[in-house]
Parts: sequence; C-alpha cells; structure tokens
Amino acid sequence: MSVKKISKKQPEYFEFSKENLKNVKKIFEKYPKERQQSSVMALLYLVQGQNNNWIPLAAIKYIGKLLEMPYIKVYEVATFYSMYNLSPVGDYFIQVCTTTPCMIRGAYKLVEACKEKISSKENEFVESKKCSWVEVECLGACVNAPITQINDDYYEDLDKEKMLKILDDILNNKNPKPGSYRGRRNSEPENNRKTLIDNKNA
Ligand code: FES
Repeated sequence: MSVKKISKKQPEYFEFSKENLKNVKKIFEKYPKERQQSSVMALLYLVQGQNNNWIPLAAIKYIGKLLEMPYIKVYEVATFYSMYNLSPVGDYFIQVCTTTPCMIRGAYKLVEACKEKISSKENEFVESKKCSWVEVECLGACVNAPITQINDDYYEDLDKEKMLKILDDILNNKNPKPGSYRGRRNSEPENNRKTLIDNKNA
C-alpha cells in the first residue's frame, strides 16, 4: 500500500466554481439539515474534479469552513481513502490493485510494467507528465483480477504484456479500451461455462 503523498507545492486559495456551488447545494439536499457534515466525501470528490484530480490543503480548509467541521476531521477523511489524491497526478492516473486476489493473479507484474514505462517510483510522472501510477488496495473487482484503474475506467484480466501495451497506447495518444483483456463480458465465466449445470466439481 502506498503512503499518501502530500504535495509540497500548494496553492494558497481554493473555492468552488459557480457550477460546483450548485452541485454542493444538490448534495446538501440529500442529508438532513443537522447532518450536512455527512457530505464531506462527496465535497472532497467535487474538489478533485475541479482541480485536475487532486485536493490541495486550501480546499480541505475550505470544506471544513463550509461544513463547520474541524480542519483535522476533513484532513483525516482525505488522507484515509485512496480515491483522494493530495498531490498532482498525471492526465492518465494509473492505480494498480495489489491486494491479495490481484496479487496472487500477478499484480506485481503490472507494477513492473508501470516501473518500466512510467517511473521506477510511485507518484512520479513520466517525462511528458502524461501518466503517473500508484499501488492501491482492493478496487472491488477481484473476480476480474488482476485489475488496474485508469482515470474512471477499469482494465481487467491483465498480464504484464497487456499492461505494457495499454501503457504504450496511452503514451502514443491512443485510447486503450477498458474492460476484460481475456474477452470476458463483465465477469461472466470463460468459454461459456455454466457452473453447476454441465460440469461436476465446476
Ligand atoms: S483485490 Fe484487486 S480488485 Fe479486489
């Protein structure tokens, strides 16, 4: 698991755009008036969307004020979940799951591919600033292990060769297709196998 890296370069100021202030209003409507602090995760996610996929400390303070919540409590949430980035990431942000199911299906081979094509260390940019990578905990798609999340998409059933090809495509301005790389639709069984119908001990 990677250690959460907090950027040394921080903007002094953050505020939501007009459009996001409307979104904040909609989020607040989902919670009872005395429970507005429950929207902290959604607001942090909005910050990230507005700020090139990372959350500066000024935004954590801003959210604290908005929710009348101590700064440290917002900071605790932002530092706990791997979905929040506290330092700049590449335009293509590559998250390799290395939790047990992915690990035993070869996740560290995907890490090797990232080290070869992007950078030997996590959170460092490839020269063009196009990509950065990080190891993360379970992404909730273990049945298609090993998997990688790139921005909002999942790339599944991977091996090192396929991962290298995906990274090459990204670095050459092509858009690799998300989903299974063994031809499965979602998490269906391979070869049209129907568990407990034809095969004993399936
Ligand atoms: S262990 Fe990798 S998605 Fe769950």
